[in-house]
Amino acid sequence: MNFKQNSLFTRKNGFQEEATEEQGGVLAVWGSPSSGKTTVSVKLAEHLARKKKNVLLIFADMTTPPLPCICASGDLEGERSLGSILAATHVTENLIRKNCMFYKKNDYLGLIGMLKGENVFTYPSYDQTQAVELIEQARQVAPFVIIDCTSTIASDVLSAVALMEADTVLRLVNCDLKSISYLSSQLPLLRDHKWDADKQLKVASNVKPQEADCHMEQVLGSVSFQIPHSREVETQYLEGNMLEELGLKESRAFRKEIEKICKEVFGT
Ligand SMILES: Nc1ncnc2c1ncn2[C@@H]1O[C@H](COP(=O)(O)OP(=O)(O)OP(=O)(O)O)[C@@H](O)[C@H]1O
Ligand SMILES: [Mg+2]
Repeated sequence: MNFKQNSLFTRKNGFQEEATEEQGGVLAVWGSPSSGKTTVSVKLAEHLARKKKNVLLIFADMTTPPLPCICASGDLEGERSLGSILAATHVTENLIRKNCMFYKKNDYLGLIGMLKGENVFTYPSYDQTQAVELIEQARQVAPFVIIDCTSTIASDVLSAVALMEADTVLRLVNCDLKSISYLSSQLPLLRDHKWDADKQLKVASNVKPQEADCHMEQVLGSVSFQIPHSREVETQYLEGNMLEELGLKESRAFRKEIEKICKEVFGT
């Protein structure tokens, strides 16, 4: 494996970027089922990697591994699994580096997730210790860490820990009653003191034209970000090539909002 200078493997920690105002940090993307968590996580990571920022994208979902849906397996360097990391007694920086897969078309992007065909029983069970260590050590591997959480924090340890440990949480919701109902049912779980409400930013996701501003405010209240629906994003999702650049004019508003989130959350 031959990674370019300054790529995730060659850099030892997150401080090699020349002095800039960038904050970096760990972002957890969480919210209602099908709200667009994976889509937004992937597009934020893709945007950062395109700007030559070392970014580690972690897919917490062990029930429906997202990795096989975001790019062709041939586009990934190696066959390594999140399961191997969490199966260890202790998670080290080295273990993460060894089990991280690189996107061959841009090696600023490292991905960690379960592989096609794997599930929660493929590996020994893990607990909060490994989840906390994974996030702690991920900070040493890359300056930008994005965790695509599952909605089910009551049963998914890694996603629950990610919400506690992340510097910022994007809380995605669609502009429909089911999506809102789900979040309302989960919010009491987040009232514990460790679930810092201040670091959670409300995001209206996959907003369709008919869900215009006034209707949305009425349903969701004020939100920090509004990510519009994009047909090109939907097509990429269907075709399993979500790491490709969005080129169509109709995706402009989507791209702009992704850029805005990167600026406000990561300072870049
Ligand atoms: N901004 C968007 N524009 C177009 N389609 C979108 C957008 N956001 C999400 N989608 C579509 O919504 C569906 C669900 O997206 P995604 O899998 O990212 O959601 P999720 O929250 O990760 O779901 P899950 O709860 O299953 O993990 C997909 O078909 C995806 O293409
Ligand atoms: Mg998902």
